[in-house]
Amino acid sequence: MVRTIGVFDSGVGGLSVLHHIRDALPEARLIYVADSAHVPYGGRSAAYIEARSMALTRFLLSQGAEAIVIACNTATAAAALPLRKQFSNIPFIGMEPAVKPAVAATRSNVVGVLATVGTLESARFAALLDKYAGNVKIVTQGCPGLVELVERDELHSVEARSLVERYTAPLLAAGADTFILGCTHYPFLAPLIREVVGEQITLIDTGAAVARELKRRVDSELSPCEMQGVAGSESFYTSGDAEQAARIVSQLWGKQVVVEPLPHAYR
Ligand code: DGL
Repeated sequence: MVRTIGVFDSGVGGLSVLHHIRDALPEARLIYVADSAHVPYGGRSAAYIEARSMALTRFLLSQGAEAIVIACNTATAAAALPLRKQFSNIPFIGMEPAVKPAVAATRSNVVGVLATVGTLESARFAALLDKYAGNVKIVTQGCPGLVELVERDELHSVEARSLVERYTAPLLAAGADTFILGCTHYPFLAPLIREVVGEQITLIDTGAAVARELKRRVDSELSPCEMQGVAGSESFYTSGDAEQAARIVSQLWGKQVVVEPLPHAYR
């Protein structure tokens, strides 16, 4: 038996998490789905995202996934609860903006959050602030357009720089010294964000913490499986154009990979 983990995102953003999952579970079989035909999730209704998350989960389970990482803050906000209710025997590991570590890290007592509008407007995010913000001022900034840039592999274009400048300026003006990258696409823009905001700003993302949490839950909740010496593998699927996805996935994953079309029943 091979330990099999399913991972999904609206597009290629979740690959920033998949890198950490690969490191945490080197012998596992990883199945990644990019819902490219429906990206971006950020401006869509919670009901739409929930329906897509259900379909992608059903596909991952049909492929043998034993645990699922919702490698998307927006989908976690919209669908983590209904997914856990519908598939109550499956561990789901969701993602949310790293408010707690950012509040611990700030010296200026102002934290900036870059995320999708869907995440920032969710009840889940409001609850997160209630729980962890304390006396720290939290300044939020929705970032329409950033996800699309990453999907086009435009990590350093003129347009990318001007959007990053526009979205980070209000956070800098408010005195934030710590920025949360609250969308899994944004770590791919971190080098550009760093160039724009300078070395003194702390950038926080949750990929590594999510991979650690996945490993903890796999070890404690799934039946043991003898994986000694097994080579890990990855398979990639998309609901969009498979050739186009293969180019961008290969680029962001760091090696040439094949991306298969998601079967029609799940699109
Ligand atoms: N990568 C996603 C997130 O973490 C979704 C972005 C989108 O599709 O708008 O929120």
